[in-house]
Amino acid sequence: MTALRVQGLRSGYGKVPILAGVDLLVAGGEVVAVVGPNGSGKSTLLKTICGLIRPYSGQILFDGRDMAGRPSYHIARAGISYVPEGGRLFPNMTVRENLLMGAFATPANLKSGLLEEIYTLFPILQRRGRQYAATLSGGEKQMLAISRGLVSSPKILMLDEPSLGIAPKLVEEIYDRLHALKAKGLTVLLVEQNTNFALELADRAYVLENGRIVLEGSGQDVAANPEIKRHFLGL
Ligand SMILES: Nc1ncnc2c1ncn2[C@@H]1O[C@H](COP(=O)(O)OP(=O)(O)OP(=O)(O)O)[C@@H](O)[C@H]1O
Ligand SMILES: [Mg+2]
Repeated sequence: MTALRVQGLRSGYGKVPILAGVDLLVAGGEVVAVVGPNGSGKSTLLKTICGLIRPYSGQILFDGRDMAGRPSYHIARAGISYVPEGGRLFPNMTVRENLLMGAFATPANLKSGLLEEIYTLFPILQRRGRQYAATLSGGEKQMLAISRGLVSSPKILMLDEPSLGIAPKLVEEIYDRLHALKAKGLTVLLVEQNTNFALELADRAYVLENGRIVLEGSGQDVAANPEIKRHFLGL
């Protein structure tokens, strides 16, 4: 079953084109990574899919319906959850309040069960429940951002650079939790510059360069591709 199929997607900022016709597929239950150098258009891709940027042309088929040009709240309600780069938490709200914001559309009787699931995944968030989001460490903020993306029980979770600016030990922990979510069948589309962790997690991967997909394959194949290593990933 295909969850998300992007076809010929072109978008940019005003008249400045960034995505030059992107095709990609995320099947239900799959983890797909998009990797590529700075400025290649990774964040622009996710912003376009979630409706923050209106595409110039192309299709964003989600469960068979075209989301291109729809408002972001409509896309979120359809089951596409987006965790932006840096998380964009509400700094003056507590951890628990941030989580409840993510669950605003969830029926009240299901909310506590959802929070329990989150606390099982990231126990630290329960301990920090009454603390303001602004006071969390970088890694804790990222865990909260991912969790806020999860409490709406999305059909697909889109993550922009979950490892950005986080200490290596916490990056490992976050990816360990992402492996657990994958094992539970969660569908994920993530973009990363930290290719080692992302390609190890991903079933399939795409390499984006200058707004174009230049390579696709299994996470392992992309990680092992010598051209990619040298030119794009700086390894
Ligand atoms: N709001 C904006 N207005 C104009 N140009 C923008 C805007 N945001 C990003 N760009 C440009 O779009 C291009 C792609 O940016 P994008 O953020 O998608 O890249 P990225 O692959 O996510 O990079 P990084 O790995 O550094 O996060 C860059 O050249 C960037 O300067
Ligand atoms: Mg980016």
